[in-house]
Amino acid sequence: MSSEALRPAETPAEAPAGAPPDAVPRPIVTAPVLVFDDVKLSFSGVKAIDGVSFEVGPSELFAIIGPNGAGKTSIFNVLSGVYRPQQGRVRFKGTDIIGMRPHRIAALGLARTFQNIELFANLTVVDNLMLGRHHHNTYGVLAALGWLGRARRCELANRAAVEDMIDFLELEQWRRYPVGLLPYGVQKRVELGRALAMQPSLLLLDEPVAGMNLEETEDMARFILDVRDELGIPMIMVEHDMGLVMDLADRVMVVDFGRPIRTGVPREVSHDPDVIRAYLGEEHRTSSGSMDSGSTDRSTDPAGQMVHSPEADDGRSTP
Ligand SMILES: Nc1ncnc2c1ncn2[C@@H]1O[C@H](COP(=O)(O)OP(=O)(O)O)[C@@H](O)[C@H]1O
Ligand SMILES: [Mg+2]
Repeated sequence: MSSEALRPAETPAEAPAGAPPDAVPRPIVTAPVLVFDDVKLSFSGVKAIDGVSFEVGPSELFAIIGPNGAGKTSIFNVLSGVYRPQQGRVRFKGTDIIGMRPHRIAALGLARTFQNIELFANLTVVDNLMLGRHHHNTYGVLAALGWLGRARRCELANRAAVEDMIDFLELEQWRRYPVGLLPYGVQKRVELGRALAMQPSLLLLDEPVAGMNLEETEDMARFILDVRDELGIPMIMVEHDMGLVMDLADRVMVVDFGRPIRTGVPREVSHDPDVIRAYLGEEHRTSSGSMDSGSTDRSTDPAGQMVHSPEADDGRSTP
């Protein structure tokens, strides 16, 4: 796999200087790719985001967790320019992006996947991935019509990037199928591929394993880690699956009613009494006083392997 070609243009190819390759948490030693600073957003009295601040470092996997309605998707919508907050600052790669149109923010290098799959069901895997490349087209309509030099080079570069993505996400056997016919877990992988085909500098994942069975979840977890470790792309992941978050994330922010409760490495956060109270309720305290992820679909066994409860295989979507 030529993962080099899939890296974001400005993201350093190597881990931060001095960082041991497998150490978790990985220290942030260079400028953050994203600064979200004291953001407030309300909808006719409902405080969707109420003074949230956080930073995401280069090639960091940052998770946001919290109950339904806590404001997680609203944070993503502010980041991608869908919602304009009443207060606060959001700097992406040093650029103030509040008030910027969504397509301009995307062109700056911010890509996302959605809580519910957003793909063209009738198009093939290859064609959906090609659509993820469209903003890399630097030629005009006339050149495209005439299939002239620059358009042709651009098309070939896009094809090559899509082929790399198919390789990276192990989609070869599905490449010619309309995505609507594919298994759910593969569709979610194609959506990840469409976002990665943009060669983003920051990737937002909204509930990447929602509705997946155990095998699909483990596959997706592996690909998410590969995105961070092989492509070096920083990510923000919103996820209900506590076990997954605790296993994968470098740092976690817990939100409730639009407010940040605690931000830290998974171990610290899972032992925080306020987090336990707000997110899981008193009844979920374990004897050690730490968070018991058994109330979610998955939890982590003592060996660090993800274990799965049978009821998690039912639903295919979350509200
Ligand atoms: N477009 C909107 N109009 C009105 N209320 C909204 C809108 N978007 C989100 N909200 C409200 O903001 C709060 C946070 O929602 P959301 O960000 O979707 O939460 P989460 O993703 O954590 O479940 C909820 O009370 C929700 O009803
Ligand atoms: Mg949501």
